[in-house]
Amino acid sequence: MNRAASLWIGALAPAVLLGCGGGEGSSTGSLGAGGGVSVGGAPSSGGTSSTGGGSGGTTNAGGLSATGGALDTGGAKSTGGSLALGGKPSSGGTSSTGGSKSNGGTTSAGGLPSGGGASDTGGAKSTGGSSPLGGTSSNGGAASTGGSKANGGATSTGGSKSNGGTTSTGGAASSGGSSVGGTTTNSSGPPMGWASWNSFAGTITYNIIKAQADAFVSSGLKAAGYQFVNIDEGWWQGTRDSSGNITTIAADWPGGMQAIADYIHGLGLKAGIYTDAGKDGCGYYYPTGRPAAPGSGSEGHYDQDFLQFSKWGFDFVKVDWCGGNSEGLDSKTAYTAISNSIQKATAQTGRPMVFSVCNWGNQSPWNWAPSISTMWRTSGDIIYYGGTADMNRVLPNFDSALHPTAQSLGHYNDPDMLIVGMKGFSLAQNRTHMALWAISGAPLLAGNNLESMSADTKSVLTNSDVLAIDQDPLAKQGTKVADTSGLQVYSRVLSGTNRRAVLLLNRTTSAATITARFADIGLGATATVRDVWAGTDLGSKTTSYAVSVPTYDSVLLIVTGA
Ligand code: GLA
Repeated sequence: MNRAASLWIGALAPAVLLGCGGGEGSSTGSLGAGGGVSVGGAPSSGGTSSTGGGSGGTTNAGGLSATGGALDTGGAKSTGGSLALGGKPSSGGTSSTGGSKSNGGTTSAGGLPSGGGASDTGGAKSTGGSSPLGGTSSNGGAASTGGSKANGGATSTGGSKSNGGTTSTGGAASSGGSSVGGTTTNSSGPPMGWASWNSFAGTITYNIIKAQADAFVSSGLKAAGYQFVNIDEGWWQGTRDSSGNITTIAADWPGGMQAIADYIHGLGLKAGIYTDAGKDGCGYYYPTGRPAAPGSGSEGHYDQDFLQFSKWGFDFVKVDWCGGNSEGLDSKTAYTAISNSIQKATAQTGRPMVFSVCNWGNQSPWNWAPSISTMWRTSGDIIYYGGTADMNRVLPNFDSALHPTAQSLGHYNDPDMLIVGMKGFSLAQNRTHMALWAISGAPLLAGNNLESMSADTKSVLTNSDVLAIDQDPLAKQGTKVADTSGLQVYSRVLSGTNRRAVLLLNRTTSAATITARFADIGLGATATVRDVWAGTDLGSKTTSYAVSVPTYDSVLLIVTGA
């Protein structure tokens, strides 16, 4: 059975399903002030830490009536819907329907793994779609300190060392996006890079990652500001030596994992790795391209494994939830322990690691993950291995990631890796997908095969205006300011004076005119408008800007008030 038939999506109880209405949940917790800003390079020490993430989020604990088979642990009723593809183990659910495997749930059929009935959010209305769009960009890094090579700016790449971070940066859209200051002091923009999962699943080897890293540079992603090459599940078959140290297959990873981290660093990039919070990782429950891998999780070895990753040279670690979910672990407790282990590792090696929480939105990570991590997944997988890119997965993931009060510089809601440039998407759909991630200030981890990337895909991934929106140093999420039966307007406050990124999104089945009213986005009567994807300045407008948007398509604007 391929992954498409057996995979799951993460949490997200109700409301993530397509076509399901659903209010927009939002978490209302108060957030501590974000850390300082450090643009650029690798080890960044200093940065003030951001704590907080108060309470909130419309909680749907237990996921009463999750339709569509999202995940639902403990949920009273989770029925498989159009999205329920098989399902990982759903633990606890009383009647989740639909899937192939369920642990714990009384009659779980179908549902993706769920843990804890996530909470909330999104929902809104689904769509499908495509689009065209265009923008400005800015440069920042006004005062990036410390780094030997910290370059600000929308497409800046980090330097090798950027310290301090409390006051660096500056510009309107300084990016660089990946310099971190440790798990609680990451003070830079949403991480930008590439991750192996969407295109290669468990089949990865040194040679595959090396080829992608080479293409990362030769294709221009590095020059555009992308930095991370992230090795996802599949690198480890769960084996350890007698001291409990992770061992890997020498034929696949000659020189061990340090060799590939070294290679990636040699290209001036940063390296990411992956594990699971539980005993057995996703490669055990849902092997893809390799045999089932028992033991492929870090439970019982948190200090040892994260120190090992740091010693190998990894700058980023994603921690999945297959084992944690299956064992019924408490997300906040497990991920907090992991965050502590990462900090201990960093204290020992001096190498900070971006910490990416991947529990699919279970147990409302937007309420607790901001204080312990750089990014946290808010929903299930955007694509299953071998599957086709689908707006009906992109839009719900976007909706589920809207927790504006949880987000601050260095701490991001994560709607999942990008599927820009993967089979199934037109140029217009790739643009809408990218625009949605940019308007929400999401991490940008490309998932397409970089060796065969088309010029169109490259143009979408590297558009400097879009990247500047995504990396805007205010790190605010866009919010929905108007919605007329699926004709939606999202506005994101940008740094600078009276600047907004505005997305006009048509979630209806026919083309329609969508109007961005300046009053709705907090501007006065006069503003200039730029169409980002067209790369065209449209001049000064009065009161509003209206444009026809094709069905399931969007237009991305930068609007600057007088
Ligand atoms: C889960 C995660 C994905 C990917 C796979 C690997 O599904 O959500 O992003 O890491 O596991 O098995």
